[in-house]
Order: sequence, then C-alpha cells, then structure tokens
Amino acid sequence: MWNSAIVAYFHYLGLMLSFGALIVEFLYFKKDITVKEAKIVGIADGVYGIAITTVLITGILRVMYFGKGAEYYLNNNFFWIKIALFIVVGLLSLYPTITFILWWVKDLFKDQVPTIKPNQFNIISWSIKGELIVFSLIPLMAAIMARISS
Ligand code: HEM
Repeated sequence: MWNSAIVAYFHYLGLMLSFGALIVEFLYFKKDITVKEAKIVGIADGVYGIAITTVLITGILRVMYFGKGAEYYLNNNFFWIKIALFIVVGLLSLYPTITFILWWVKDLFKDQVPTIKPNQFNIISWSIKGELIVFSLIPLMAAIMARISS
C-alpha cells in the first residue's frame, strides 16, 4: 500500500506543479516582457515539462499496478476522455516550448529580451490559455473515472 500511496502522491504533486507552472507562464508571458520575466517563463516551462512527465509516468504506474487494475481503466470511457484531454494539453504546449527552446534561450543567455513576432505572441498566449482550460477539466474526468466504470 505504501507504493500505491507514494505513486498517488507524485501523481498529485506532478499535476499541482504543472498547473502552477502554467499559471506562472500565463502571468509572466506578455508583449512588453523583460529579460527577468522571460527567464521566469522559460524556467516555468522547464518545470512544466518535468512535472507533466511525472504525471504521465505515475499515471501509467497507477493504471498497471496501483489502481483498480488495467482492465478497469482500459474499458472506461472516462479514462479515455481523460487521456484525450491530456494529449490535447500536450499538443497545445508544443509551440510555446519549441519557441522558448529554439529562439528564446539564445537571447536570454545574452541577457537580451527575446524577440516575439505579433502572430507568435498570439499563438503562444492562446496556447497557454487553452492548456489551462483543458487541464482544469482533467481532474473532473479523473474523479468520475475513479468512481464510475462506464
Ligand atoms: C494532467 C493530467 C492528469 C491529471 C490532472 C490527473 C488527475 C488525477 C486525479 C485528480 C486523480 C484522483 C481521482 C480520484 O480518486 O478522485 C487521478 C487518479 C488517477 N489518474 Fe490521473 N491525472 C492526469 C493524468 C493521468 C494520466 C496521463 C494517466 C494514465 C496514463 C492517469 C491515470 C490515473 C489513475 C490510474 C488514477 C487512479 C484512479 C483510481 O483511484 O482508480 N492520470 N488523476
């Protein structure tokens, strides 16, 4: 039971850290961003990457070993809706992360404000908003999935 409790704990810690990191990105990503704010956004995106990977790994462990048995989840429509929402969040996070890694890192290492083209700004800011909205639906699916086998 200890393993199950520890894995569940890291599942929740991961989702709290990833949601928190998204909130930081949402608050600090803006048109007239400073070097300091841009670095905070970059670090938050790194934390997001590690945290969401922790959520995925602990989620798989719970499906296979520390939950109600893989059968329960694999035959549960709410589980698959949860996974679909998780994939949407992952896809929405791609463009911001690629932009931060490919373009921002170079500028930030020279302590320069990263250049953000207007269309890039809109795509990234709507991606972050979309991630937050879709992410906030996942715990609802999780709570239903844990109690109702559809
Ligand atoms: C951002 C993504 C995720 C969030 C926010 C999330 C959230 C949650 C929450 C809140 C619970 C507790 C449900 C309850 O007992 O009421 C839970 C349980 C669980 N989650 Fe996740 N989860 C996420 C991703 C995943 C993924 C990717 C998987 C599988 C690959 C997964 C598998 C599970 C399993 C198996 C449980 C245990 C359910 C039970 O007690 O029967 N989760 N999750």
